[in-house]
Amino acid sequence: MEGMRKMVYVVGCLMMFFMVQNVSAVRYTVGGNKGWSPNVNYTLWANATNFYNGDWLFFVYDRYQQNVLEVNRTDFESCNAEHFLQNWTTGAGRDVVPLNVTKTYYFISGKGFCYSGMKVAIPVSNPPPPPSAAPMKSTGVPRLLTSFRGRIRVSTLFAIAAVWDAFIFLW
Ligand SMILES: *[C@@H]1O[C@H](CO)[C@@H](O)[C@H](O)[C@H]1NC(C)=O
Ligand SMILES: *[C@@H]1O[C@H](CO)[C@@H](O)[C@H](O)[C@H]1NC(C)=O
Ligand SMILES: *[C@@H]1O[C@H](CO)[C@@H](O)[C@H](O)[C@H]1NC(C)=O
Ligand SMILES: *[C@@H]1O[C@H](CO)[C@@H](O)[C@H](O)[C@H]1NC(C)=O
Ligand SMILES: *[C@@H]1O[C@H](CO)[C@@H](O)[C@H](O)[C@H]1NC(C)=O
Repeated sequence: MEGMRKMVYVVGCLMMFFMVQNVSAVRYTVGGNKGWSPNVNYTLWANATNFYNGDWLFFVYDRYQQNVLEVNRTDFESCNAEHFLQNWTTGAGRDVVPLNVTKTYYFISGKGFCYSGMKVAIPVSNPPPPPSAAPMKSTGVPRLLTSFRGRIRVSTLFAIAAVWDAFIFLW
């Protein structure tokens, strides 16, 4: 019986972990439905979004023409692909980049496409504090979870609260 309880607890913890992970990380397709291609104003595209540590970028492009290189600011401004910091190209034309550092990321497409506008600067900040959580407190969600991240959907909080209550009950 003791072992059973431990197992339920561990499985529950994992469930909570993945629920929180899934809803709090957002994956953005670079350029929206235009993807990663020439003649898109990526300054305008990026300016419409707040990127947070933990989010992901998804580059969708013609794998025979473009690539995805992370460079520093100087090389971003001059479209210099010679000393890239990281080559995110995998070859499929579908590359995922985790934004897991709070900094400004600079991406360009090599092979000259940077000059036709295929460059994007992504300022990544820390997740915002939770919205004033007054109505949520009454749901009995543990503090740890309410303060975890501001963008967790309320329905998820209720689901987590239900799982949590089940633990307390079993304990
Ligand atoms: C993108 O749009 C902004 C605002 O309209 C403009 O200032 C900028 O020059 C444009 N960038 C490119 C590469 O066209
Ligand atoms: C970015 O968006 C802000 C407000 O949303 C606007 O004031 C600013 O002009 C925009 N910048 C560019 C380069 O479009
Ligand atoms: C970017 O890298 C180049 C070459 O390695 C270097 O000369 C330049 O100072 C760097 N720029 C920044 C902002 O770090
Ligand atoms: C980046 O990596 C891909 C896949 O490994 C490779 O085909 C490509 O040549 C690399 N690009 C550069 C500029 O090194
Ligand atoms: C960020 O993600 C990359 C790619 O998965 C990984 O190599 C790197 O260690 C991560 N950095 C941090 C600070 O977690």
